[in-house]
Amino acid sequence: GQTAAHFMPTERSLESLSDAAGRCTACDLCHDANQLVFGEGPANAKIVLIGEQPGDLEDIQGKPFVGPAGQLLDECLAAAGIDRTTVYVTNTVKHFKFTRLDKRRLHKKPDSREIFACRPWLEAELEEIQPDVIVCLGATPAQALLGRDFRITRSRGKRLQTEWCKQTVATWHPAAVLRMPDQSRRHQMQEQLVGDLRMAVGE
Ligand code: URA
Ligand code: SF4
Repeated sequence: GQTAAHFMPTERSLESLSDAAGRCTACDLCHDANQLVFGEGPANAKIVLIGEQPGDLEDIQGKPFVGPAGQLLDECLAAAGIDRTTVYVTNTVKHFKFTRLDKRRLHKKPDSREIFACRPWLEAELEEIQPDVIVCLGATPAQALLGRDFRITRSRGKRLQTEWCKQTVATWHPAAVLRMPDQSRRHQMQEQLVGDLRMAVGE
């Protein structure tokens, strides 16, 4: 199958990558989504945050983490003393995947083929930015960078080395925190997410 590598521009910058990704048809997700949601943030960012894929509001606004999960992420970043405008925020897969239920569009997990097809965009972003720290939000980005065997429950909050960054840390996805029905567990997960962010940027 085709991958995003087929659409890679020769002149590499975050802007040219984002433009080229807007023309990507390497997997079927581009057909039903409204638009591409590329990463956002400064090219000299020291921290890259990677989510799973855009959600409903991200697909409408064309920006990552602007919906409910993004609001919780903003809260956690603030609690960890991190200014979001200094961070580069992106996703493992750049188009929204969903099923329709009545008028609503329900998020669907990207499969391994879509993750593989889209990975060249993420790799190109990381090569451009060369961050000091990568924070994977949930298992999807962690598995894309660290391998399919990665388990968030086992390796959350550990500093791991990848070919893109000496310090790669995985933590809970904010949407997983929001979905947790048990309130005390939810608070604990949110504290762990803040603690992992703080640890990731600490010396
Ligand atoms: N969830 C993600 O993983 N990414 C977004 O951009 C929004 C919600
Ligand atoms: Fe291309 Fe990724 Fe969109 Fe698939 S999800 S069409 S690989 S940009």
